[in-house]
Amino acid sequence: MLRLNKVSYAINDNKNEVHLIKDASISIPPSKFMAIVGPSGCGKTTLLKIIAGINEESSGTITWNGRDLSEDDLSASEVGYVPQFSIAFDELTIHESVSYALRLRVGKKHIESQTDAVATIIEQVGLKELSDRKVKVLSGGQKRRLSLALELVTNPTLLLCDEVTSGLDPRSEKEIVGLLHSLSQNTERIVVNVTHSLNHLDLYDIILVLYEGRVVYQGPPDKITHYFSVESAEEIYPLLGCREPQEWDNSWNKHKHSYILEDQEPNAERAHSVINTTPSAASQFCALISRRFKIFARDKTQLILQAAMIIGFPLLVVVFGLDGISQPKTLPTENTGSIIEQFNHQVSVSESQIKTGSLISGLIMFQVILLTLIASNNSAREIAGEREIFEKERFGGLHTASYIGSKIAFLSILVLIQSIWMGIFVQICVPTLPGSPITRLLILFLVTAAMTSICLGISGLMKNPEQSSLMSIYLVGFQLPLSGAILTLPHWLEPISRPFISAFWAWSANLDIMTGGYFGQSIHAVTEESSLQPLNVCIAWLSVHILTGIFAAYAGTKKPQW
Ligand SMILES: Nc1ncnc2c1ncn2[C@@H]1O[C@H](COP(=O)(O)OP(=O)(O)O)[C@@H](O)[C@H]1O
Ligand SMILES: [Mg+2]
Repeated sequence: MLRLNKVSYAINDNKNEVHLIKDASISIPPSKFMAIVGPSGCGKTTLLKIIAGINEESSGTITWNGRDLSEDDLSASEVGYVPQFSIAFDELTIHESVSYALRLRVGKKHIESQTDAVATIIEQVGLKELSDRKVKVLSGGQKRRLSLALELVTNPTLLLCDEVTSGLDPRSEKEIVGLLHSLSQNTERIVVNVTHSLNHLDLYDIILVLYEGRVVYQGPPDKITHYFSVESAEEIYPLLGCREPQEWDNSWNKHKHSYILEDQEPNAERAHSVINTTPSAASQFCALISRRFKIFARDKTQLILQAAMIIGFPLLVVVFGLDGISQPKTLPTENTGSIIEQFNHQVSVSESQIKTGSLISGLIMFQVILLTLIASNNSAREIAGEREIFEKERFGGLHTASYIGSKIAFLSILVLIQSIWMGIFVQICVPTLPGSPITRLLILFLVTAAMTSICLGISGLMKNPEQSSLMSIYLVGFQLPLSGAILTLPHWLEPISRPFISAFWAWSANLDIMTGGYFGQSIHAVTEESSLQPLNVCIAWLSVHILTGIFAAYAGTKKPQW
């Protein structure tokens, strides 16, 4: 039995307390199928989230088989919550989606056979024939069935559905309501479906009418027209507006005893022993990483974009270094010739040093900037683009550490390929580039990782993928002007902006490893002494960027954002 006793939920709106739910008292016996109906904006979703434990009630108590849920939350496997939005990845098939949901939510020791379990669930929701079809080609009704299947993997005793029948054609709507009804039979499972539709009310065991956050009716469907004194249920919504919510409340409190389903004695309720089926963080990590690679391999647009950048960007860089980097002229050790000749020679040496220095500095900066662009494309949408799915999965018991860990593993592989290929290709085409190639590869890897990590952090903190992409692009855009590599920054600005600019540290590190040989003077000819930082300082800053990004991503995902 699920009981809500005078549950309210209030928010602060401009310092005023607004009750989205007011004194809701509800009781739902086991094996019952309940509809929460009411006009748009009356608080249905809010109420469902309170029951699920996503929203915490401001006052009142909720008990489940005698257990106080404010002290002892529902475990992830006891409750299934089907939100309004789609919660599956377009590129996966129905079978794969259910299979990953099972791997993320139920440990191996709790199921005998993964394959059988997946097949049974898919059959239960009537998608057996379509099992190999991709999510992106499913119809609205089929997607709702899949959403239900994803929640059935833990065999929940409480199944909460938000508008899973909305926007469907009448036939599909009836079929889904029928399916929900069947899911509440033969088990102790309670199924609650939120809907604004007043069709098929007779298929439910209990109807709860909500109006402006108040329960104005709760009882069997056949008595609803009697309570509201109307001919058909469709007349209820227009009628609701004719009285103040408080009046409806008073009226309901007066008459409710004749309508509410026979109440079970609270003492007779058995407390179920709860088995937590959530798998270990390591198995969740493995499932996530396998799923991420599968989705990546099937996302043609992203694959083409990645290939274009990985192949095209190094080509762009070498175009500027095709003539090779000539060693700059040097002054003769002994001064010979006239003063004029010596002066002309000095000028030509300086010119050649500036030319070589600019080429090296520009080439390095270009290489680094292109890598930061690749990096922002890697991760700007990584979390924000699937935030709703992640929130849903976290609610279902996904460890945040497994999630962030899988992102780090996946992105590290991308970063490794991108930076190593950029480094090796440029080294092969411009072999005279001074400095140790291995150290340069390390620097390129670090700057790509730093930017990828920071954009992952942004993606974890932002509310939606558009915001996150925009922020990441701005960040890349600011790398060049704020690095001081092209135009010298004002002295007061340098120490403020520089710590945040990954491209600067990679550029500076690269130049630092070249200053030893012939090219030292050329590099000094085009850069200010103060703007170059030693290699180890640069590596330390890039590492700080990587860690900051990971921390931000973790902190951002730890905080629920429904
Ligand atoms: N976090 C929130 N802050 C402010 N208002 C909210 C918030 N969540 C919901 N509301 C408001 O509460 C009311 C009920 O919302 P909701 O439960 O989503 O309604 P329903 O699902 O019945 O359409 C709406 O008017 C909505 O705008
Ligand atoms: Mg809603």
